[in-house]
Amino acid sequence: MKKIILAFFIIALILTAFLVKNTFVKEKTWPHVEIIPANREIKIIIASDIHFLASDLLEPRSSFHQEIKRGDGKMPHYSTQILAAFLDEVIRVKPAALILSGDITFNGEKRSHVELAQYLKKVREEGIPVLVIPGNHDINIPNTYLFSNNGRKPVPNISERDFWELYSPLGAIDAVSFDKSSLSYVYQLSEDLQIMMIDTSQYEKGMVKTGGRINEKTLAWMEKNLSKAKKSGISVITVTHHSLLPHSSLFTSDFTLENYPQVLNILEKYGVLVNLSGHIHIQHIIRANEIDGIYDIATSSLTVYPDHYGILDINTDKSILYTANTVNVSKYAANTGIDDENLLNFDKYSFEFMSQTTFYKIRERLAQFNISVEEKTAMIDFVQMLNVHYFAGIPLEITVEDKIYKLWSEYFPSGFHTRYLNSILKENDTQSTTLFIPSARKREQGFGQ
Ligand SMILES: [Fe+2]
Repeated sequence: MKKIILAFFIIALILTAFLVKNTFVKEKTWPHVEIIPANREIKIIIASDIHFLASDLLEPRSSFHQEIKRGDGKMPHYSTQILAAFLDEVIRVKPAALILSGDITFNGEKRSHVELAQYLKKVREEGIPVLVIPGNHDINIPNTYLFSNNGRKPVPNISERDFWELYSPLGAIDAVSFDKSSLSYVYQLSEDLQIMMIDTSQYEKGMVKTGGRINEKTLAWMEKNLSKAKKSGISVITVTHHSLLPHSSLFTSDFTLENYPQVLNILEKYGVLVNLSGHIHIQHIIRANEIDGIYDIATSSLTVYPDHYGILDINTDKSILYTANTVNVSKYAANTGIDDENLLNFDKYSFEFMSQTTFYKIRERLAQFNISVEEKTAMIDFVQMLNVHYFAGIPLEITVEDKIYKLWSEYFPSGFHTRYLNSILKENDTQSTTLFIPSARKREQGFGQ
C-alpha cells in the first residue's frame, strides 16, 4: 500500500512540474525567434557594465549621492533613464540579438536584477533575444545595499540559480548547448553564425572574486562546441565579461582572464571571428598579434561617459564592422517629457560628471604637495582631458614630451598617476570606437589590418 501511495505521490509531483512548466511557457508573451538563414547580413548590439541600480535603492537625501561624485564615473542615479533610452534605441534598430556582457547590476542587488529583467522583457517581446552573462558584480555579492536617507541598509542579493531563472527565458533558454559547470551557453543566431556566451566570473558563495577565469570543464565544453562549429562551417563570436587580452600594462591581474593564454589558444585554433568583452569600463580594442591575431573589443560601461554601446554589422562573408555609439539620453528625455535639465543636456552632464570625479581624486592627491595654484590647475586639467578621451576610446596627440606631463613625472616620478598617464600616452595610440575586421579569406590574402 505504502508503495502505491509513494508512486501516486511521485506521479502527482511530475504532473505538477509539467503543468507549472507549461503554464510558464503559455504565459510568455514574446514571439518565437526563427534561426536566420545562412549568408544574411546580421546586426547585433552589445552593452556592457550597465551597473543598473533599481530606482528605489537610492533615496533622494542619501549621502551616497556625494560619494559617487568621488567614484569611478558610474552614474547609478541616472541608470534607469540611461537604460530606458538605450532600450528604446535597441527596439528601434531591431538587431538580431542584444548582448549584455556582465556587470548588469550596480552591485548584485536582487531588486536591481528583478527590475532590469522587467525592462529587458520588453525587448524580448519585440522579437529580440537578449543574451546575458554575469560579471563580477552580479551573483552572491556579500555587500548589497539600499542607499537610504539614513545610511546604507543591507538588501538581498541573488544566487547563480536566481540569475539563470531571471534571464534565461529572455534568450539563453533557446541555446543549442549549455555548459554544466558555469552559466555559459551557445546561441545559434543564424544557420552559419553562433554566439558563445562565456561565463568568466568567479562567484563561489563566500569567495566572490573581481578577476575572471574559465575553468577546465568550461574550456573543454568550449573546445567541443568550437570544433563542431568549425566542422559544420559555422562561424563563432565569443563574449566574455573579463578581457581576453591585457588592454594596458596597468590592467593585468583582476582585469584580464587569469588563464588568458590558454583561452586565446583555443579561440585562435578554431578561428573565432572576434571576442567581445567589458569589465574595464574603457572603450578599447586590442589584437593578439598584428598579423593575424584575434581582436578583443572592450565596450565601455553604458552608465559611464560617453555612455557607449557597440553595434556589430556582420556581412555575408563574415567580415565585421564594429561601431561604438553614444546613447541619446537627451532625445529620450525630451520625447518623454522629462524636465530634468541634466537629462535634457546629458552629453554635457555626463562629460562634466566624469571630469568632476577625476578632479576630486586628483585635487586630494595634490593637496598635500607644495605646488603653485597655476601648476596644480594645469596638472588637473591635463589628467581630466586625457581621462575622458581614454574612456571614450579616442587617442590624443600628446606625447611624454608634453610640458604638463613632465610636471607630473617631476613631482611624482613613480606614483600611480604618472604610471597611469604614461600608459595612456604610450598605449592608447589607436582609435577604439570603430573597427573593420575583414573576412577570414581576405585576412589570409593579406587584407588584414
Ligand atoms: Fe566587472
